Amino acid sequence: MSNPVNRDPETLVDSVIEQYREYVNPGLASLMSFGGFDDVEETAEGCLLRTVKGAEYLDFLGGYGVFSLGHRHPKVVEAVKRQLDRMPLSSRTFFSEPMANLAAKLAQITPGDLQYSFFCNSGAEAVEGALKMARIVTGRSRIISTLGGYHGKTMGSLSATGREKYREPFEPLVPGVTFVPYNDAEAVAQVLGDDVAAVIVEPVQGEGGINCPSDDYLPALRKLCNSHGALLILDEVQTGLARTGAMFACQHWGVSPDIMTLAKALGGGVMPIGAVVGTPDIWQKTFGTNPLIHTSTFGGNPLACAAGLAAVEAIEEEGLVEKARLRGEQLLSGLKQVQSRYPETLVEVRGMGLMIGVEFAVKEAAELTINGMSQRGVIAAYTLNNPNVIRLEPPLVVTEAQIDRAVTVFQEAVEMSVSLLASLLG
Ligand SMILES: Cc1ncc(COP(=O)(O)O)c(C=O)c1O
Repeated sequence: MSNPVNRDPETLVDSVIEQYREYVNPGLASLMSFGGFDDVEETAEGCLLRTVKGAEYLDFLGGYGVFSLGHRHPKVVEAVKRQLDRMPLSSRTFFSEPMANLAAKLAQITPGDLQYSFFCNSGAEAVEGALKMARIVTGRSRIISTLGGYHGKTMGSLSATGREKYREPFEPLVPGVTFVPYNDAEAVAQVLGDDVAAVIVEPVQGEGGINCPSDDYLPALRKLCNSHGALLILDEVQTGLARTGAMFACQHWGVSPDIMTLAKALGGGVMPIGAVVGTPDIWQKTFGTNPLIHTSTFGGNPLACAAGLAAVEAIEEEGLVEKARLRGEQLLSGLKQVQSRYPETLVEVRGMGLMIGVEFAVKEAAELTINGMSQRGVIAAYTLNNPNVIRLEPPLVVTEAQIDRAVTVFQEAVEMSVSLLASLLG
């Protein structure tokens, strides 16, 4: 089939959707159409996304945490363009300056003794690296993870992902993973034997439904890991880099892990990149005898690292930690006002910074609301492991007026879904 350029918008959209049906994933095509996303993305800038049909959307999904700097942040685009004209991919023989610079920057901004970085290409890959390191460092194999936790869908990361629906079809997975309820340190204590290599947890559960922990949860996990010689892996793939109103979510509770995983926002919304960040001790025990024990051909490529460094600098220069906190408070309180008008439909509004979830009583109401929001020009989505929760993760550069607009649209969409469901059931 020819490339659908220079066709009128309707024909182009039909053609792309048809190609999805024929060559990508027919079920996904139906799901996207059902969600009201029957269009093709074309350009994007900041919080705005435009489609070939000429519609303009406020992006309140933010690429599931990727677009913390918005789309096409000029500083990141410029850094990538500059690197593109010099050397996009590494020879993997000589030293690479962009990788060295990004690793040094991460050592500077990450908490505690975190110092070394291994770069890869995605969140799941970062989790794979972290799990392998936990094994080689401790000589143990058991992992404790949380129900509802999301760590990716590759074999290893999926083994630690706390949702049966995604794991079960691929079993047997990596053995030795025990799942406990999130935000329950006592449950961890009960299964934490001296054969446990690591406890892996998201500081704020993202795909599990934007679940925030109580203040003593992460400090308690840190203590438990210390006393049993297990590593604490904090998966900050979604929470990292200012999203929750701290540079790293674990800093809200003054806890630093042995290993931290990063991805999503690290690429500045321009390049894919993941990172495993660890202490000197972890690195010595992992790479000390064989520096090539864990590698990735494209991991840490110059384009991605140039994007990463520019992204971190932009976050610092533009005070996005503080902005996430301020705009987050505005969004949270706006949504809570809507909740107070529909207490039977909206069970809870919760979150930290600009990582906010709205839990619906039934998933049908959430689905209809997402659809209603997209019809009104605001993109949102549900959380992967909890379809009752709509997540709102706009770029941290979002304006006050854009938040007001999204809250108004959310209210209209909830109102529409409530009356639609009432008419269907009544
Ligand atoms: C906390 C967390 N870890 C890992 C992943 C997996 O990242 P990726 O989709 O880049 O493989 C995600 C993705 O949503 C995530 O939220």
